[in-house]
Amino acid sequence: MTKVLDSVAKETRKIPPKYNFRKKAYIKNFAEYKKLYNESIKTPDKFWAKQAEQLDWFKKWNKVYYWNKSKLECKWFDGGKINISYNCLDRHLEKRGNKTALIWEANKGKGKKFTYKQLYKEVCKFANVLKKRGIKKGDRICFYMPMVPELAIGILACTRLGAIHSVVFGGFSPQSLKDRIDDSRAKILVTSNVNLHGDKVINMKDSVDKIINTCKSIKYVLVNKRLNIKTKMKRGRDLWLQDELKAKDIKDYCEAAKMNSEDISFILYTSGTTGKPKGVVHTTAGYLMYTYLTFKYVFDYHEEDIYWCTADIGWITGHSYIVYGPLANGATSVMFEGIPTYPNPDRFWQIVEKYKITIFYTAPTAIRALERYGDKWVKKHDLSSLRLLGSVGEPINPKAWLWYYNVVGNKKCPIVDTWWQTETGGIMVTPLPGAMDLKPGSTCFPFFGVKANVYREDGKPTRADEGGYIVVEQPWPGMLRTVYKNPERFRKTYFSNFKGGIYFAGDAAKKDKDGYFWIMGRIDDVVNVSGHRLGTSEIESALVSYKGVSESAVVPIPHPIKGNALYAFVTLKKGLKGSDELVQTLRKHVARSIGPIAKPDKIQFADSLPKTRSGKIMRRILKAIASGAEDVGNITTLANPEVVEVLKKERI
Ligand code: WTA
Repeated sequence: MTKVLDSVAKETRKIPPKYNFRKKAYIKNFAEYKKLYNESIKTPDKFWAKQAEQLDWFKKWNKVYYWNKSKLECKWFDGGKINISYNCLDRHLEKRGNKTALIWEANKGKGKKFTYKQLYKEVCKFANVLKKRGIKKGDRICFYMPMVPELAIGILACTRLGAIHSVVFGGFSPQSLKDRIDDSRAKILVTSNVNLHGDKVINMKDSVDKIINTCKSIKYVLVNKRLNIKTKMKRGRDLWLQDELKAKDIKDYCEAAKMNSEDISFILYTSGTTGKPKGVVHTTAGYLMYTYLTFKYVFDYHEEDIYWCTADIGWITGHSYIVYGPLANGATSVMFEGIPTYPNPDRFWQIVEKYKITIFYTAPTAIRALERYGDKWVKKHDLSSLRLLGSVGEPINPKAWLWYYNVVGNKKCPIVDTWWQTETGGIMVTPLPGAMDLKPGSTCFPFFGVKANVYREDGKPTRADEGGYIVVEQPWPGMLRTVYKNPERFRKTYFSNFKGGIYFAGDAAKKDKDGYFWIMGRIDDVVNVSGHRLGTSEIESALVSYKGVSESAVVPIPHPIKGNALYAFVTLKKGLKGSDELVQTLRKHVARSIGPIAKPDKIQFADSLPKTRSGKIMRRILKAIASGAEDVGNITTLANPEVVEVLKKERI
């Protein structure tokens, strides 16, 4: 028997939901959850057909669920016709036309609010601009934007037309942007002249200009005027978004395309273990259904809630839980341009107080960072409107969980620690806040329709408290359908570890004796820094691209705020010597090539790296060395075991 992971955590606290919360909740106790859950697993057709009645269809489906395990072909609501944007906007107009849909809090200065009616009109106008510039169903549009309303409006405009959006996080480097534009062959890039972040003004258009001439697929660049400053515009290609929207021929009505359930809605690139980032493909009906339902039940959303998710729309959390999930439910969703520490480390709490936020969803990295500044910043504000807190992106350690619970939530708000991935489209393993006792650090139970389990290497389920691989045994509506233009990579990455159509998530986890799930982090070479998932291979290639560097290996080390920080081992070309100056240069180089979040915290120069006989670098050993361990585990498979002692001696 091979054990995948040892489990060392010993957290036994249980926190039951409060009576007041439970009273109002959709799912009021564990028995109710269990009953619905069993139904969703045993008779998925029946369960999802009933749920799908909550969406607006142009035409109902023929078959709820189809899964061909050998071809890995998955379809939900096949034969149906539906539109995501219509479900997020049009269908609310009658009942909620004057309800606030989107609140935009600016980095500094005045923000904006949009009612459902206003948002609908803006989306229609944006869609008409795209149409005027030749965009048709199936065309790809790339967004490289700050957190401004135009981003939310823009992606809703795409799904309205059936154009496929691909949002690239605004902090990525020009090269990363180019790779993603080229892979998806996007026709239009939507960007902004500047990105305002705290007291920094980042010139995004300059970054775009570094690569855009080499992106052959691009016909137009739509530039959002965030600040009125001098911006270089190339005639014929670069267009001011605001001018386009104001043009006389742009109407505020645009019919929503009748999309097939399985038409692609968007691509979102995510780092993989090897090579280029993967274009994760989501489709229409299943994705909408899944984000709609998870939003409703996980956040126990009610009509009067004011909901704020602090994520960036450049990541899946922003797609699913700032835009699509909340708007499909007719909710009021807050979107924030700035950063948690500007002008002071109470910015989040000030916003909670200002809008009387009732549901607040953030990441452990933010929680840990704000905890560091002390309780006084939280206590300055009246947070009594809060009734539910959420966490996503990485494991939240019990200490941060309890701070979040006690200080931010004032001991009255349940915390939903939600485990999921870009690939899963929506939340997978999570508490349902009225239905179950919480355990700090546990993501509790699988959502409806999610047959999650933990396996050993040989595909057998683990015992209670034994670490293993988290898997999903049957498809759910929000599952990715493929990797863009690379079905083989889709199969290899997610379905080759275990036989029989078992989805492999790449995370380690355990289930305790009560059946609670505990996520233990990534098992492959993707590292999670401040909730950002980075492929070590991408960072390594960036390091190696610097002159004089011949090899490098990047591993995560624990970091009190970021969750993980990066530790890089760098081998220089013969005859060269490392120096403090070179360390700084390399860090800057990585920031330039990938983005500042990928900068290694520490760089150790090494004559050689531990390798297997086939020449593979053993990152497991490097990880142990970097985090200060004396015993680095089994080194018998190494071709050069002698390097271990040298590296240990020279570690920093
Ligand atoms: C990690 C973000 C522990 C995990 C939605 C996963 C988590 C990766 C949690 C996906 C959580 C996300 N507890 N780990 N609650 N949520 N993760 O694609 O390693 O950006 O595989 O999606 O983040 O990151 P992604």
